[in-house]
Amino acid sequence: MDILTALSPNTEYSTAKLQLVLGAWVLSTAFERKPKISTDSGHVAEADYHKQSIYSLLYSLYRSMGVVTSDRGEPYELTFNTWGYAWPAQWGEPPTTAADPQRFGKNAYTGLFAFAPVKEYVRGRAGRVHVVEMGCGTGAGAHHVCQHVLPECTYEAVDMQRAAIETCRRKFVPELGGRLVATHADCTELRAAAGSADIVAVCETHVTEQAGRVTEEDRLFFGTAHRLLKTGGFLVWGNAIPDGTWQPCFDLLESIGMRSVEVRDVTEYAILARDQDRARVDAYVSQCLEKFLAFRIPFLGPKKRVEARLAMENFYRNPGTNLYANMTTRKDSYRVVLFQKAA
Ligand SMILES: C[S@@+](CC[C@H](N)C(=O)[O-])C[C@H]1O[C@@H](n2cnc3c(N)ncnc32)[C@H](O)[C@@H]1O
Repeated sequence: MDILTALSPNTEYSTAKLQLVLGAWVLSTAFERKPKISTDSGHVAEADYHKQSIYSLLYSLYRSMGVVTSDRGEPYELTFNTWGYAWPAQWGEPPTTAADPQRFGKNAYTGLFAFAPVKEYVRGRAGRVHVVEMGCGTGAGAHHVCQHVLPECTYEAVDMQRAAIETCRRKFVPELGGRLVATHADCTELRAAAGSADIVAVCETHVTEQAGRVTEEDRLFFGTAHRLLKTGGFLVWGNAIPDGTWQPCFDLLESIGMRSVEVRDVTEYAILARDQDRARVDAYVSQCLEKFLAFRIPFLGPKKRVEARLAMENFYRNPGTNLYANMTTRKDSYRVVLFQKAA
């Protein structure tokens, strides 16, 4: 069993299933030629994982873990699958407090809508705008935006992972009285109506990851964003990706009729967030590893426990991992960008 490639985005795995899956993964170590997860930095080569499998595992895991305790003793259910960033002081009052374990994700979602032209557009429509989010994860950000950022909006949150969409439907949709809809779909082939969105939001969606170039998936993804938008509507997009990938993406967006309005680099605040989030991440990973019995299998269990810890910490860009180092060297940069659909 290879958890990096074998799990399905159309399945939500129960705790019992996860116990079996992780047990099979640990036992398969006996037949492994070379570990795919670096035990120095948690790095996994592009060719060695499928994002569909990784996110399927993570969202089922978050569901299975339920409410956990943060390093500061705060109970929370992990729903923001977001690195995020510390709120830049020059943007005004911070939208979150230091006690909130998921504050960096909330900052990232608030930051998508913090551009002056977006605020003016929303004000001009008395707040009644329609947002489509491509790659919403559990919908935690959608819920935050509907409650605190755009309290009059309607919102369609879309993700390719069934487990994430089920969490959104269980935890967030019922609270919002019909304003939030959760859709399970691959955004490269999304059927939502053309010209229906005032704003398309993209927060750390796992696309545009190939250094220095746009892929066919990226083209289809941004093609969907353009198709969904009303003329004059906005694409708001934030992520940490290879620094050399931004310009090819900008060129693609311009070529399909999107006009660049503003680009903000928040890499230093993203690094700060990872520094400040380290103890919470460590506590979360420890609680996960404790829950799953596979990691207690003699000899093989402890070996795989090291790999699982490093892989998760790298995924969260924890200090000491490959993805954290990529931000400190600016191999990866975190930007928040605003494009407008041209007439
Ligand atoms: C790092 S997570 C971020 C999730 C969410 N935006 C958040 O901040 O919590 C990346 C997400 O992108 C989603 N994703 C990647 N490619 C996608 C696609 N083509 N269509 C829909 N979702 C996609 C994944 O399923 C995953 O939920």
